[in-house]
Amino acid sequence: MIFCRTKAEASKALEKPRAQARSLGLVPTMGALHEGHMSLVRRSVAENDVTVVSVFVNPAQFDESRDLEKYPQDLRQDLLLCEKAGVDVVFAPTVEEMYPEDFSTWVEETQLSRGLCGAARPGHFRGVTTVVAKLFNIIRPGRAYFGAKDFQQAAVVRRMTRDLDMPVEIVVMPIVREGDGLAMSSRNSRLQGPSREEALVLSRALARAEELYRAGQRDVGVLVREMLDCIRSAQHVQVDYVEIVDAESLEPLEHLNVPALAAAAVYIGDTRLIDNRLLNPTEEGTTP
Ligand code: PAF
Repeated sequence: MIFCRTKAEASKALEKPRAQARSLGLVPTMGALHEGHMSLVRRSVAENDVTVVSVFVNPAQFDESRDLEKYPQDLRQDLLLCEKAGVDVVFAPTVEEMYPEDFSTWVEETQLSRGLCGAARPGHFRGVTTVVAKLFNIIRPGRAYFGAKDFQQAAVVRRMTRDLDMPVEIVVMPIVREGDGLAMSSRNSRLQGPSREEALVLSRALARAEELYRAGQRDVGVLVREMLDCIRSAQHVQVDYVEIVDAESLEPLEHLNVPALAAAAVYIGDTRLIDNRLLNPTEEGTTP
């Protein structure tokens, strides 16, 4: 496995595979790798000749400096996990390498990124699309892998590649959950004691919405109220948003007659967690 800190090192490491036209998969991450990330890595290793994992805590996508400062990092462990999984190259640039002092160009998606996390975290998706576009230019992958926990992020990135004709296939992998249902996230390591238990209201609320949906409930107001009741039953959990949107346009819905996404974000202390579930009428067991 080759470890690169600079764009020049990454180009050098990828010179040969590029010349041999070998397929290249990129798994962009902010490190503190968990099973969710590793499911993306395994898929990339399985379907590409070469897999690159980028590890970069991107300051441009943090709307709160405290969140950035407290974002978990463990590069040593990340490297061990990547090595074990058969990753070929890890690209872990410094902030200076990615953002020179006079950096002044941004990539911005303006539709899918408006609601949900985009509304709650101004500038977040502009930071994501900019860094992902940069990573695509530096690594030039044929495929790039994203997790469905960040459903909106995957949709925004896919739209960016379509709109800007970037020759990258976006592969989205299912959410990986802990045994008790909590969606895996690097931020989970910040949950201490009772917070960890209380965090379960997030996945439970979404599971409840799905259960009611499967039982025939199509009124968004009713489903959102149920989710809010569930989340508010936990003392230390603050709702950031709870919404049901069209799964394609990510626009708010009132009645569920198209595939929809139930999505929620909460704060537990200063740790922000997100989760989502598709409410899809074409899925087995649901009425079309
Ligand atoms: O999902 C993430 O970890 C980040 O948003 C990403 C895609 C690596 C961009 O910084």
